[in-house]
Amino acid sequence: MWTRRWTSVALLVPLAAAPGVRAQLRVASPDGRTAVIVQVREGRLYYSVSRDGRALLLPSLLGFEFRGAPPLRDSLQVTDSARQTVDETWTQPWGEVARVRDHHNELRVGVAETATAGRRFAVVFRVFNDGVGFRYELPEQPGLGEFAITEELTEFALADDARAWWIPSNRPRLDRSEMLFSSSPVSVLDSVQTPLTMETRDGRTFLVIHEANLVDYARMFLAGPRMQSRTLRAALAPYADGTKVYGRTPFVTPWRTIQLADRATDLVPSVLGLNLNPPSVIQNTSWIKPMKYVGIWWGMHIGTMTWSSGPKHGATTANAKRYIDFAAANGLGGVLVEGWNVGWDGDWIQNRNAFSFTTPYPDYDLAEVARYARAKGVHLIVHNETSGGLENYERQMDSAFTLYRSLGLDAIKSGYVTDLVGEGHSHYGQYMVRHHRRVIEKAAQHGIMLDVHEPIHDTGERRTYPNMMSREGARGQEYNAWSSEGGNPPEHETILFFTRMLDGPMDFTPGIFDILIERGTGRPRRPDEPRVRTTLAKQLALYVVLYSPLQMAADLPENYEHQPAFQFIRDVAVDWDTTRVLAGRIGDYVVVARRERNGPTWFLGAITDEEARTFDLPLTFLTPGRRYVAEIYADGPGANWLTNPLPVAISRRPVTATTRLRLDLTPGGGAAVRIRPAR
Ligand code: NOJ
Ligand code: CA
Repeated sequence: MWTRRWTSVALLVPLAAAPGVRAQLRVASPDGRTAVIVQVREGRLYYSVSRDGRALLLPSLLGFEFRGAPPLRDSLQVTDSARQTVDETWTQPWGEVARVRDHHNELRVGVAETATAGRRFAVVFRVFNDGVGFRYELPEQPGLGEFAITEELTEFALADDARAWWIPSNRPRLDRSEMLFSSSPVSVLDSVQTPLTMETRDGRTFLVIHEANLVDYARMFLAGPRMQSRTLRAALAPYADGTKVYGRTPFVTPWRTIQLADRATDLVPSVLGLNLNPPSVIQNTSWIKPMKYVGIWWGMHIGTMTWSSGPKHGATTANAKRYIDFAAANGLGGVLVEGWNVGWDGDWIQNRNAFSFTTPYPDYDLAEVARYARAKGVHLIVHNETSGGLENYERQMDSAFTLYRSLGLDAIKSGYVTDLVGEGHSHYGQYMVRHHRRVIEKAAQHGIMLDVHEPIHDTGERRTYPNMMSREGARGQEYNAWSSEGGNPPEHETILFFTRMLDGPMDFTPGIFDILIERGTGRPRRPDEPRVRTTLAKQLALYVVLYSPLQMAADLPENYEHQPAFQFIRDVAVDWDTTRVLAGRIGDYVVVARRERNGPTWFLGAITDEEARTFDLPLTFLTPGRRYVAEIYADGPGANWLTNPLPVAISRRPVTATTRLRLDLTPGGGAAVRIRPAR
């Protein structure tokens, strides 16, 4: 069901012909609560955002600076405007929710310079009940053909000194997303990454600034306020020469998005960015399948295996078959094998051009492992670490993808462990954005699903290319194996849920059972060594809390043997019809319930930071009158992430929609619950 209404107004009299004249255009969300006002003031174009009549963004500048041309910023006037309303519901091939409603009011504002150049552009605003998106359109015109953007002037002038949860980006060329979050008032921010989640000081509104449909542009960061102000500015990741974006008209930018919610728990599921991406270009998506997987992976991170050749080489034919057997026996769909291809010997981060994506190490028989996996009904996930050698990868992509498909392999985990790419371009600049798009398209042509590590942040690509399934793009489990800070602190995932996870799925790789990393390494842990800083039950809860259509059981298979709690990983779904956040406070706790796609079973995940917490949860989301059994995996007696992380209490009880389920979480703990219809 969809409707579209169009109205278009060509303004005979420019709205702001004379400098200093104020005129306004307004567009509101379908529920009327959120309004955007666009205005020209003294020749400059501004937008502002309010909710329930209260200012959220004060007038914020729009425009660009170019190399070799005057900025597109001054002596502007509004020339025309057009409006449209859309209300349509579409279905995701896989996702956090099956159905997504796109209901918005659009305002397209045409703008021109009154000065000599007379260049024209438009800003398109779409206002949804859950937030605002806007983008620039630069039409083809004599005065604006090829261009080089040196600065995007977009501002986000916050009305309130809201509290932000952020990771820094103050080294524009050497950035990483794998950092721990901090929180502070907007007015002291320096330079941060998006999604940037903020809460107004009165707690009435949550705002998330991000972007959508990043196709041929540079990734956006947010540069902090000038002294005493609360105005964040778009800051684009650069090429080596400092240019941000090369383009030619006609051209559209990515959407700048401001998600809005009354409560933190209403931020999830976040679909604003998906609605601002074009529909899928892949007609038949039946081959794109969410799955759980194990992998020859954790062994390398804890140092018992190597990617490189030698006595500890992880990717041997025999090892791979052992993992395939394990996956097949436990109903897990995939097996990842890292370190299978030549190029890992020596300094693999520096030797980016040494990687072959078709030549296995001699002790790994790729064709035989692929045959074995196929025979067992398991997807062999091919690892492609590029170390940022984009050119080396692109040279081999065709032959590699052709080889993989000839062996029946349809999933790749790629990696971009590097800072700069090419001749010194930002890991997040247009150069890299273009590369990622080429890989996504090429993979789609070959029928290959993607899981990208060290990616550019998710801007909703999965709507157009559902083979772009999961990515890393935050500090994941791997840090618990080797980070110098000792691992991720207990609050980490309770922040991720309300920040990084708002842009899309994350391959966090949950499910480490050997919490102290002692069984895996075969020796006791020293107090100064990193470890997992959760209880075991919390590792289970992460399968529900941290959404990914490719969800790893990250530990060594031997650490799952004879572990009753492993049953939860075998049972948990990876594709969801419905998602409900039952409770949550950023940095403190999260409780999520999700119903599996095409089935009646619900899964519930609850996690806490270093504080113990009790939840008394009404199960009103269950179908009324239906009888269910709740299988509860909770922190066991005396459990505590620091002193006693392993005890898990597994219990069963009948429940219905009128039941209140009490869950006791220990410090650093969690609970995972499967609620299935009673037989
Ligand atoms: C970093 C990735 O996040 C990790 O999963 C992978 O094992 C290594 N790079 C090697 O590619
Ligand atoms: Ca990583």
